Amino acid sequence: MGERKKYVLAGTGSRGLGMFAGPLLKDFTKYCELAAIFDANPERIKAANGLLGTNLKGYTDFDTMLKEVDPDAVIVTTRDDTHAQFIEKGLRAGKRVISEKPLCVNAEQARRILATAKQVRKNPKARCFVTHNMRYGMAVNEMKKVLASGAIGDLKHVQFQENLDRRHGADYFRRWHRLKRNSGGLLIHKASHHFDVLNYLVDDLPDELVAQGGLTLYGKNGPFRAKRCLECKHTSKCEFYVDMFQNERVRKLYREAEKADGYLRDGCVFDKEIDIEDQVGVLYTYQKGVKVVYNLVAFASYEGWVIQLEGTDGRLELHEVHDTSWLSANPTNQGASPNLGKRLHLYHKSKGYKEIAIPEGKGGHGGSDPQLRYDFFGRPFDSKPTDRMAPVEEAVQAVLIGHAANASLARGSKVVHVQDFLKRG
Ligand SMILES: NC(=O)c1ccc[n+]([C@@H]2O[C@H](COP(=O)([O-])OP(=O)(O)OC[C@H]3O[C@@H](n4cnc5c(N)ncnc54)[C@H](O)[C@@H]3O)[C@@H](O)[C@H]2O)c1
Repeated sequence: MGERKKYVLAGTGSRGLGMFAGPLLKDFTKYCELAAIFDANPERIKAANGLLGTNLKGYTDFDTMLKEVDPDAVIVTTRDDTHAQFIEKGLRAGKRVISEKPLCVNAEQARRILATAKQVRKNPKARCFVTHNMRYGMAVNEMKKVLASGAIGDLKHVQFQENLDRRHGADYFRRWHRLKRNSGGLLIHKASHHFDVLNYLVDDLPDELVAQGGLTLYGKNGPFRAKRCLECKHTSKCEFYVDMFQNERVRKLYREAEKADGYLRDGCVFDKEIDIEDQVGVLYTYQKGVKVVYNLVAFASYEGWVIQLEGTDGRLELHEVHDTSWLSANPTNQGASPNLGKRLHLYHKSKGYKEIAIPEGKGGHGGSDPQLRYDFFGRPFDSKPTDRMAPVEEAVQAVLIGHAANASLARGSKVVHVQDFLKRG
């Protein structure tokens, strides 16, 4: 087998297949062999083999797969709340574990994962990394370079506005993400990308935090509701109506799979069960004093983000507007297309303004997915990890900020200390 190492995939959903299984089978065969796939739903395993055009051995029991296949590495792309158990089992079995973000959905799971990672520390093969692909963003890369060059002096203040539009944002209210117990809410499921990137750019640990937010447009706020779009009587008047089943092949795959586990992809965004926030604001401070204002809205009129870094000598400002037309949804996007793209501005207090060129990225998530895959799978297995391959200790910090924000919200916007959540047990 030479330099080729055996991988198994846990979770055969859209991310597992599109980001990992497909590319491993096609582009990374020099160092990687995808040996087996695991999913709780056998219909999804069947569908995965159908979509990939493979006959991979499929398992509905994770332990049996580990025992029979004895892989070198496990890739975890199951639902967020289930990552922890597979990460811990993989580490205990002495495997490299590569998990999708978020590492897990709360501080309790984070503490357990950290304790397990510590217990197996003596085995250099048992390491966990999280695929925080936003670290690989072309603009983030340029921002990191500008900060390191000292061009804005000492960083003092950060402002991060995350806009999820009514196509993409609404999708989190249709699927499993809509319940906090599955996803930790958008403060963990989605904002873990952003908190991780801020930790990476600021290069410090988060400290004091306070949050405000709520569910203000979706869920109980809707004027009418049904179980799902497919069976809805209100489609003509609902801006969130979606037909996920236009394609006959997709219809067959989804409907068979959902019979087995009841997982709907077109659940009603106005379901009263929904308990995650659709807008949240978080104020927090890093240990060395950098202050952050973070805000997320999940029904924005365009998709993208604005990240502003203010230093003692200048300001770095990133504006991104993203195209979400790839998603199945009504075309409710309110005219963002003329502004699509990214712009990075540097304002210096004495040297004036300049625009910093952002290289064109090709592939998923603005080119970050292919770069991440190269670091993980395009090099010999024992290559030195890069600083963009987030180790478990760093991934924990992204979850902790989200957890602390959830805790602050639950306590009526009480001020909390992020690192305290590492200690509680
Ligand atoms: N980095 C990114 O940009 C990015 C983008 C999308 C998704 N993700 C992450 O990837 C993961 C998968 O997301 P997705 O959109 O593919 O979801 P999905 O719903 O399409 O797939 C999830 C899969 O997990 C399986 N599953 C659920 N519970 C399980 C359990 N207990 N045991 C085994 N299998 C189980 C489901 O059957 C399903 O096949 C999530 O953690 C998500 O946060 C990351």
